[in-house]
Amino acid sequence: MILNEVTKAILSRRTVRSFTPVRLTSDEVKTLLECAMWAPSGRNSQNCYVRVISDKTALDELNTDFKDTVGRDTPAYTRWDVNPVYQTAPALFCIFADCPDPMNGGIMAENICIAAQGMGLNSCIIGSVGALFDGEKGAKWKDKLEVPPDGVFVVSVAVGHGDEDPEPKPRKPERFYEVKL
Ligand SMILES: Cc1cc2nc3c(=O)[nH]c(=O)nc-3n(C[C@H](O)[C@H](O)[C@H](O)COP(=O)(O)O)c2cc1C
Repeated sequence: MILNEVTKAILSRRTVRSFTPVRLTSDEVKTLLECAMWAPSGRNSQNCYVRVISDKTALDELNTDFKDTVGRDTPAYTRWDVNPVYQTAPALFCIFADCPDPMNGGIMAENICIAAQGMGLNSCIIGSVGALFDGEKGAKWKDKLEVPPDGVFVVSVAVGHGDEDPEPKPRKPERFYEVKL
């Protein structure tokens, strides 16, 4: 196994859903944005972009709007209630695309996660916040985030200093091998 700073960051990353109140520095935010920008994209379309929310009041409002959108008695709300990612994460990186494109945006999200890991930060990719951007409060949030009305939400990444150390989720190693031909 070749272990270097990059492979160690990839192998040690775990989804973290609980964060300390420590805010990200502007250098950390800038570095993560730069790493997102340098993600590859199919045909070099560069069709994805990022908006970071790090204002605590705005994150609280987003969390409330998310709960109002998905419904407070749905499993999603129950999960957020127990584990309120948006309330405690100090920064939420929201990835949008010019057209539906989960591939390029997903690669961008992973760049953010691995870069964050390498910087001693933790992260959680959050797809479900798409319900907010696709819902009736989506236009308000796109406007706040300076995203055009036809901008497509892809995925978001909560980043901060984790205050939990989750066990690794078991993988399926039997599905990963080199074929001897
Ligand atoms: C596309 C995508 C969407 C995800 N959406 C959510 C989400 O909405 N809420 C959440 O708590 N975790 C979300 N996750 C995190 C996964 O649950 C997590 O990656 C998975 O359980 C494996 O755990 P690990 O990242 O620690 O290996 C998402 C991950 C990916 C890749």
